[in-house]
Amino acid sequence: MCGIVGYIGENCASPVLLDGLKKLEYRGYDSAGLAVVENGEVQVVKTKGRVADLEQKLQESKPLSGTVGIGHTRWATHGAPTDANAHPHTGGNGMVTLVHNGIIENYIALKSMLETAGYTFVSETDTEVLAQLFAYYYKGDAVAAMRKVMQTVRGSYAVAVLTKDCPDRILAAKKDSPLIVGKGEGENFLASDIPAVLKYTRDCYLLNDGEIAVLEKDRILFFDSTGAPLQKEIYRVTWDAESAQKGGYKHFMKKEIAEQPKAVRDTLSPRIVNGKVELPELHLTDGEIRAVGKIHIVACGSAWHVGMAAKYILESLAGIPCETDLASEFRYRDPIVREGDICIVISQSGETADTLAALREAKRKGAHTVSIVNVVASTIARESDDVIYTMAGPEIAVATTKAFSAQLAVVYLLGLYFARAVGRLTEAEEQAKCASLLELPAQIEELLKLDEEMAKLARQFSAAKNVFFIGRGLDYAISLEGSLKLKEISYIHSEAYAAGELKHGTISLIEPGTPVVAIATQEALFEKTLGNIKEVRARGARVIALVSGEHKEVSEFADEVIHIPQADATVTPSLDVIPLQLFAYYMALERGCDVDKPRNLAKSVTVE
Ligand code: AGP
Repeated sequence: MCGIVGYIGENCASPVLLDGLKKLEYRGYDSAGLAVVENGEVQVVKTKGRVADLEQKLQESKPLSGTVGIGHTRWATHGAPTDANAHPHTGGNGMVTLVHNGIIENYIALKSMLETAGYTFVSETDTEVLAQLFAYYYKGDAVAAMRKVMQTVRGSYAVAVLTKDCPDRILAAKKDSPLIVGKGEGENFLASDIPAVLKYTRDCYLLNDGEIAVLEKDRILFFDSTGAPLQKEIYRVTWDAESAQKGGYKHFMKKEIAEQPKAVRDTLSPRIVNGKVELPELHLTDGEIRAVGKIHIVACGSAWHVGMAAKYILESLAGIPCETDLASEFRYRDPIVREGDICIVISQSGETADTLAALREAKRKGAHTVSIVNVVASTIARESDDVIYTMAGPEIAVATTKAFSAQLAVVYLLGLYFARAVGRLTEAEEQAKCASLLELPAQIEELLKLDEEMAKLARQFSAAKNVFFIGRGLDYAISLEGSLKLKEISYIHSEAYAAGELKHGTISLIEPGTPVVAIATQEALFEKTLGNIKEVRARGARVIALVSGEHKEVSEFADEVIHIPQADATVTPSLDVIPLQLFAYYMALERGCDVDKPRNLAKSVTVE
């Protein structure tokens, strides 16, 4: 997720662009840049680092007085945060200058086609491919060129384009990534999000997928995907700047819960091509995978919960022994790691000290390290042999949600990839599994509708002193996450237990009124978990049960039943976690807690 801005009017563009980029830094902040039309040329200034670093660089360079420009603040997806990879990117020997937010899934094939046509590249980004592709199609009709680009690329984009031959115009288009046009008096604005323009105007046009906008200083033209002129309604913004950064949501956590369908889609889609899993980031031959003795999975916190699910998923799909470890334990227990083992390291931030230390320990002992990371070029990403990035975009709330779901998505891909390598997956089975993975974003979207139901439950249970989460197999892995989510933002004590383990002591804590969240969505284990629900109910527990499909009998023993859509057993963790996130969110709200910045916590624990 990145932030893009554009300005065209009577005033100097660069201060307006910088101001807008600062408002959008929550969308991405590892590099920034802008381009301004200056005396018929397009001047580009860009840098690794924050918008403040760009501002510094501008102060040290020749002042830009142009009144037309575009800007960008980056969250790297393809190519590390460097000056060369920062946007804007140019194409056609400087004819085209472009900024982009999104992911071009077929950029490798397009890059190869353009190289064959004689185009050269200076960055590792998919965006530079867009800029050169626009130049490839541009023969003077910018709308026609934009339409050809949109018909050619696969993926998500919001783009702003300047062409040197027509300096008093900004072209814009979008698909799956947000883009708004701000309407001023004698000036017009472009931005990924409303906060960037609120200072100047509250009159906006919200671009829809496939639409093209042409901004001039005194008028804005819109075209649909066929190139026909389009009339659009003005949207009058009533939000204040602060809430607008959260896209109208009360908290970043709620916004990020809602972004999960896109985070999962952006992580899965580029890696499922014609019903097959493609992981070019993984440098392991099928023979090396077949020879693997053990897969070590190491992480902290919620990432460790993904690791717990990964053990069940990778063992059931690929039949390779897996051992999941807390990084803080792994790093000090002189783990038995053999040459040729694989060590999967999971980390949203890519900077967690314990996880980094565990990675180094596994490498020292000869493991092939694969990291699943959300921050491009973070320390863990740089030090692992292979890195598979989650495409969740910046996660601001301390309590992880969309990065967690994107990590699970990568685990499913790895499971199928390994299963195929060891010969446990036929082509037809892989097609079927990939199809069920591609249904996940829509199923998650559907589960987000449980919002009000979970808010109502939170109103009933928010006074609880202790909440227990129980489950078996993958349901146990997710019960760990449900419990941590609740603890870390509502400050209610909570324990997650393997449902079969409860009777070995902890059930003595169950008393009349104790809330127990029972996750019983693993069909093969449903009857067993139902038995545990009966055990706690018999001792007076108030049971919230998560079940997949009907299971009418469970309502006899549960006070509340949350129905999860039936899905492949392997992917139910991605569905179960949605109501649990919402439950924790609303419990924290009921208790007046600071949802985005819970006490005592940090987004990235870079100390031991
Ligand atoms: C999750 O909600 C917590 N914020 C925390 O447990 C987190 O998952 C853990 O600190 C690991 O962080 P990482 O994924 O950035 O390594």
